[in-house]
Amino acid sequence: MRPWKSDMAEPVLSLKQLEVAYGSIPALHGIDLEVAQGEIVTLIGANGAGKTTTLRAISGLLKVREGDIVYRGESIKGLKTHVITQRGISHVPEGRGIFSNLTVSDNLELGAYLRKGKIPASEYERIFTLFPVLKDRMKQNAGTLSGGEQQMLAISRALMAKPDVLLLDEPSLGLAPQMVQTIFRVIREINQEGTTILLVEQNAHMALTTAHRGYVMETGRIVIADAAANLLASDRVKKAYLGG
Ligand SMILES: Nc1ncnc2c1ncn2[C@@H]1O[C@H](COP(=O)(O)OP(=O)(O)OP(=O)(O)O)[C@@H](O)[C@H]1O
Ligand SMILES: [Mg+2]
Repeated sequence: MRPWKSDMAEPVLSLKQLEVAYGSIPALHGIDLEVAQGEIVTLIGANGAGKTTTLRAISGLLKVREGDIVYRGESIKGLKTHVITQRGISHVPEGRGIFSNLTVSDNLELGAYLRKGKIPASEYERIFTLFPVLKDRMKQNAGTLSGGEQQMLAISRALMAKPDVLLLDEPSLGLAPQMVQTIFRVIREINQEGTTILLVEQNAHMALTTAHRGYVMETGRIVIADAAANLLASDRVKKAYLGG
């Protein structure tokens, strides 16, 4: 499925007939998905559709059974997660995955651990520009942050690795509406600064108003791929994912 025009940039990340299984139970049945440089692409779908599985496979956290994952023209299938991160793909996992017993500052530092040398102050400044509240929380244990602040920290930690591609798994989950707005505003800002984003979301309306293109997943298969605006206007998507 190639839902865009031929003048579009080469994909930076492509999933080709990707198959992943949990033991003998298949979870992804041959996923084709492409993300071009500079895009925000969203992957939406119901609980259990396979969205998290897709991101975990890209990050090397799950074994690929068949098919391929190509990043900047090279297969990254079978590489270790830290190597994939070093190549430029950072993953903000479902549930955020921050270290509750460490300070905000330590969590941010851990995000940069694969890089050599001291972290320049300008990078902290960039984080504090995106999320001013984190500046006042640096010495606080991450577990004491609100849910929204923890999501800000999770995104910030991933940014400390200086990714070219950011994988976001349900960043809005469990957050109050105003916090959801903040998180999505920052996602757009990060993208405008040049980071390519693959965004998994259950909040299909927010995701499709933020993304350039989207894929709809049902039980381990991509069933629709189109420009986000077309998906927002589609009767099938409206009925199944937009509450009307
Ligand atoms: N560790 C696991 N062991 C066995 N099966 C799993 C495991 N993790 C996920 N699955 C199964 O794989 C399928 C896809 O799950 P996945 O977590 O990728 O869905 P999802 O789209 O992210 O759902 P959600 O919106 O609830 O986060 C589901 O049927 C799920 O039960
Ligand atoms: Mg999930």
